[in-house]
Amino acid sequence: MKFLVITGNPKQKGLCHALTQEILRGGRDGGAAMEILAVDKLERCHVCGDGWGSCREQHRCAFGDDGFNGAQEAVKEADLLCFISPVYWGEMAEGIKCFFDRLRRCEATKQFGGRAADSVFAGKQTLLAASPGGSGNGALSCLEQMDRLCRHTGAVIFDYISVNRWNNDYKKQAAYAAAKAMAEGRKNGITL
Ligand SMILES: Cc1cc2nc3c(=O)[nH]c(=O)nc-3n(C[C@H](O)[C@H](O)[C@H](O)COP(=O)(O)O)c2cc1C
Repeated sequence: MKFLVITGNPKQKGLCHALTQEILRGGRDGGAAMEILAVDKLERCHVCGDGWGSCREQHRCAFGDDGFNGAQEAVKEADLLCFISPVYWGEMAEGIKCFFDRLRRCEATKQFGGRAADSVFAGKQTLLAASPGGSGNGALSCLEQMDRLCRHTGAVIFDYISVNRWNNDYKKQAAYAAAKAMAEGRKNGITL
């Protein structure tokens, strides 16, 4: 199983990094091949034409050679997904939000032609993780943004995890366990 962790964290240390490491460790211990995709430096959507560009009909970004095309392919190749971001202003960090804005246009539009099942997200178990490392505020609104993306694109939300400065001892354990359970094949809806 390929388990892709898509991160918007610009830092190589700190809370979000530590949370990412726990998720990677959990997935590995569950037997998955873990990959990390950093999307925080990609360009934002150019909002082509009168609001739609090649994303609507061709499901490709006209400016995809900045690394976006490869990232879209990596999501397609993955069996399991995790979205992880620090909480900035109660939202996903700007870089990962920009990436998902572009990818949603390419993938959610497949349902217009009755091809929702072709979305690179379709049916994939997805862990949503946010780290509100300052006030601790904004976890819900950040996770809600990720939730909406999943609902537009057909990703299946496995769980929501938020980790802050004063709960990270037990919440990192939960993140590890969630990634491990996913890698071992647990699915949303299975009663234990
Ligand atoms: C521009 C910016 C906005 C932020 N907004 C919030 C916020 O709304 N809520 C919060 O709890 N922390 C906020 N923070 C702190 C980050 O969430 C924190 O840096 C993040 O959890 C990652 O922790 P780390 O930097 O130790 O990895 C913000 C940080 C930045 C740089």
